[in-house]
Amino acid sequence: MINFKSYAENFISEPDYLEKLETAKTLMSRLQQDPMSGWVDLPIDYDKPEFARIKTAAKKIQQDSKYLVCIGIGGSYLGHKAVIETLGENSPTKILYAGNSLSPLELSKIIDQLGDADFSVNIISKSGTTTEPAIAFRIFKQKLIEKYGKAAASKRIYATTDASKGALHSESVENGYEMFVIPDNIGGRYSVLTAVGLLSIAVAGIDIDKLMDGAEEERATLISDGGNAAEYAALRNVLLDHNFNIEILANFEPSFLYFNEWWKQLFGESEGKNGQGIYPASVIDSTDLHSMGQYIQDGRRNLFETFVKIREYISDIDVPVMETNLDDLRYLEGKGLNYINEQAQAATRAAHLSGGVPVLEITMPDISARSLGALIYFFEMSCALSGFLLGVDPFNQPGVEAYKNNMFHLLGKPGHK
Ligand code: PA5
Repeated sequence: MINFKSYAENFISEPDYLEKLETAKTLMSRLQQDPMSGWVDLPIDYDKPEFARIKTAAKKIQQDSKYLVCIGIGGSYLGHKAVIETLGENSPTKILYAGNSLSPLELSKIIDQLGDADFSVNIISKSGTTTEPAIAFRIFKQKLIEKYGKAAASKRIYATTDASKGALHSESVENGYEMFVIPDNIGGRYSVLTAVGLLSIAVAGIDIDKLMDGAEEERATLISDGGNAAEYAALRNVLLDHNFNIEILANFEPSFLYFNEWWKQLFGESEGKNGQGIYPASVIDSTDLHSMGQYIQDGRRNLFETFVKIREYISDIDVPVMETNLDDLRYLEGKGLNYINEQAQAATRAAHLSGGVPVLEITMPDISARSLGALIYFFEMSCALSGFLLGVDPFNQPGVEAYKNNMFHLLGKPGHK
């Protein structure tokens, strides 16, 4: 279960917060009725036969492929990359990511890494028409056909897309790719616990049952009145009312780098519209205390920080005991790095609070699939409620179209002026 604690009481008024919290709780019924709220009940109401098919496909890929090239962008890749990087891979098949930029340099690196090795492709696109993944898919499809022939190549392509429409859907049907579905009522950035994320995560050797169990447990604690996700959503909005319009997610584990990226997309794309929103930023500490620490401590006072804390670790490394003390580390001898990291986090929290940065804190039990499933669900729920409180639709992304239209015009795509 995810715990939430606020250290922001000196920056806000309690009555304002309580009023916002009451509103957040009432928004739960609106959320349940929203046509894009398919993710809310997903942990208890997912497609079980498809889930079993994902596991079977993952086993086959582990047996016949040294690499799985996962092609997707935004909500179609950040979630599974976040889970896989945070928990680490435990599989004979290594996951590679393509189609999340237009850089030939990045594509070349992946092609070089593949070399002559056996590989499969996991193409994920809800619309089935997004340019970046579509181009990468064409390139890797051609490589598969060159290597295995058309029929065998089709058996190495796994497509996750809309159930009935889009270019990727038609192509998959025509070529007989194994297909998985992105449900209509779940948007890209809320889709990590669907086939969008689960196939790659399962191939990486991560227990997707545990991931879903964690989300299910978290759902049970939040579903009646939003629980502490409503508290977090309310506090974010009260802080915004006090002009704290940048939120920094601060993790003290480098493996959470892509979790931070997923979180930024979730909140940024959900809330940044109609001239509104809290700008989501992130740091990995203590690394970034030596780069961004100065600004957070002492720069413009429009930031608040949300720390992610891990309650228990399964492994540790102690500072060695030595005869000499030339490095002045005697006071740390025999102490575990987890303990030292925890003190660094407490020290940072106190320093930033005294520097005028409101701090919120989210604690997860440990770094495991179950806890990560819970954390994902917690943030999805917080984000939806926070977006409603802000007065925006947390499930659309009209702003993403602007660059696309300009790009299509510049590239001469028919029908784009
Ligand atoms: O969250 C979203 O909706 C977006 O980030 C999409 O996931 C992203 O634009 C990719 O879209 P698609 O899956 O249609 O290729």
